[in-house]
Amino acid sequence: MISQQTIDIVKSTAPSLKKHGQQITSRMYEIMFHKYPEVKEQFDMSAQANGSQPAKLATAVYSYATQIDNLPALKVMVERIAHRHVKTNVLPEEYPIVGECLLQAIKDVLGEAATESVIAAWTEAYQALSMIFIEREHDIYGTFANKN
Ligand code: HEM
Repeated sequence: MISQQTIDIVKSTAPSLKKHGQQITSRMYEIMFHKYPEVKEQFDMSAQANGSQPAKLATAVYSYATQIDNLPALKVMVERIAHRHVKTNVLPEEYPIVGECLLQAIKDVLGEAATESVIAAWTEAYQALSMIFIEREHDIYGTFANKN
């Protein structure tokens, strides 16, 4: 369960995520590929260069910020992303890597607006979203395994 306080804080960050979303996610990938170069091979680097992958991630993060208290509204989006993740072999242990880099990117781009409480709220919110993906992807991986 995400606390009401976290929901309120995350929702309050939605306008700045809308405004700076692409900058935040581009920074996130920059940090991640520098610090964890081994994840690069899972990504289509042309979708990085033309900005389409950072744009997709920014849209997903913004949608989550606005619908954090209405998760059923995100079902279609979660399904699409989870299937893409399974195709590219995303694993549960990679979620903390993306989380760390995303939070650092939020700090870098939002500067003073990324207060301690904003970071704490996004840490909790990111973990909750990760669990949704990890569980769904676990089921999809299982479906594929059963077919073989
Ligand atoms: C809560 C965290 C995450 C969110 C919100 C997220 C979001 C997304 C979105 C929106 C897409 C594009 C889907 C599409 O093409 O329609 C995507 C693709 C992808 N994600 Fe994630 N993701 C998350 C975590 C991760 C993690 C932990 C990894 C592991 C490194 C990862 C690796 C990928 C890869 C490899 C793709 C395919 C990109 C490509 O084709 O270049 N994601 N993700």
